[in-house]
Amino acid sequence: MSNAKAKIAVLVSGGGTNLQALLDAQKSGIINSGSIELVISNFKNAYALTRAENAGVEALCITRKSCGGAEGFEKRLIEELDNRGIDLIVLAGFMSILSENFIKHFERRIINIHPSLIPSFCGKGFYGLHVHEAALEKGVKVTGATVHFVNEVPDGGEIIMQKAVEVQEGDTPEVLQKRVMEQAEWIILPASTEKICAEIVASRG
Ligand code: GAR
Repeated sequence: MSNAKAKIAVLVSGGGTNLQALLDAQKSGIINSGSIELVISNFKNAYALTRAENAGVEALCITRKSCGGAEGFEKRLIEELDNRGIDLIVLAGFMSILSENFIKHFERRIINIHPSLIPSFCGKGFYGLHVHEAALEKGVKVTGATVHFVNEVPDGGEIIMQKAVEVQEGDTPEVLQKRVMEQAEWIILPASTEKICAEIVASRG
């Protein structure tokens, strides 16, 4: 049992390119200490669900509405995650803030990818394309991505990895988002996932 891989669940809301990077990294061996067991989307039409199915990974759609609200939603998430003995939860474009209660239940077992160099352009209201819009508005010359542990402060948990990306003349939010994904997110999310999984496996002794 001590050498068993860490069980990973990936929580998504949209296109799932970061999920795809994780699935590809598992296939190529970059992720070797963990195994992606489950993908959960809180949106029905998320293409991420199709990516999970194509890779043969169990995929669930759990919406707030189907659970009668936020409390029921998190209760169901905890049930599904605990029933499968999930060790690490990776938020990969998961566009929903989790409660303190949920975060406490999985202390230091939830990581998130954010598309900026934290502490810039993060916290409430900074998600997806909005982050890149804000970076361009400010006129920063360098941006990037951050993987961090999730705690009760939005985007406030301990930083695991960061990677810088140059902003170029004439960038639109969409162009910048794509560059940040390609040059930073799809690299540091799998690398961080492997790092934390290796630590989980080692801590079992
Ligand atoms: C990614 O850029 C991710 O960093 C960001 O949403 C996008 C999801 O894309 N996450 C946040 O803004 C979280 N605050 P994906 O579904 O293609 O991975």
